[in-house]
Amino acid sequence: MGKDVIIACDFASAEQTFAFLDKFTGKKPFVKIGMELFYAEGPSIVRELKARGHKIFLDLKLHDIPNTVKKSMAVLSRLDVDMCNLHAAGTSRMMTAALEGLTREDGSRPMLIAVTQLTSTDQESMEADLLIKEPIDKVVMHYAQNAKNSGLDGVVCSPLEAGKVHDLCGKDFVTVTPGVRFADGDIGDQKRVMTPAEAKKIGSDYIVVGRPITAAEDPVAAYERCVNEFVD
Ligand code: C5P
Repeated sequence: MGKDVIIACDFASAEQTFAFLDKFTGKKPFVKIGMELFYAEGPSIVRELKARGHKIFLDLKLHDIPNTVKKSMAVLSRLDVDMCNLHAAGTSRMMTAALEGLTREDGSRPMLIAVTQLTSTDQESMEADLLIKEPIDKVVMHYAQNAKNSGLDGVVCSPLEAGKVHDLCGKDFVTVTPGVRFADGDIGDQKRVMTPAEAKKIGSDYIVVGRPITAAEDPVAAYERCVNEFVD
């Protein structure tokens, strides 16, 4: 499986997204479409980016009853995204239903990745709001193991967790890691960050990079720097 840099296209409209991607003449980066852009533009944004030749990670983090998730995943599969995701908290039954929905008649399907605990959830809020009393690291690893046992391809996690996830779930279990910053860059609101080179060393399979590329003076150069550090 190929390592790649995924650009988080956290834009509010198709217009802004295309203006950004038009800078990449001749290159077709793997892009992540999140809820903001998808809810603003609908499925057409996926079709248009596919038609332009981009691979797409559709980051909608599904979490509902198994039947609803199964049917929704079938819709995303027909949209021909390359990667999509759900919350492992939806349980193993929801994850296996999602895989059923995602699998096409010919047996092919997009990659399916689980969110374990959001990085915005800390030990305190997990205990107080979710009544989960175990250490958060243990919860993250348990959810990763559930995702693996349910047949999913991997998890979204902090690059700091990627090594542990591989130790537990095997090296073929994919880790998709946001929270990436250049050594000389601004970390913004991310707390636990790694450089692309460090993420490579620890074994991340895909890094998701937003503002270090989208807000750079020269986004194409910033993207190439990520690729050089992480892939090459
Ligand atoms: O701009 P930045 O590089 O921080 O963007 C990271 C992207 O990854 C954003 O789209 C953010 O929503 C997403 N993400 C994250 N942390 C997670 C899961 C997703 O930063 N745990």
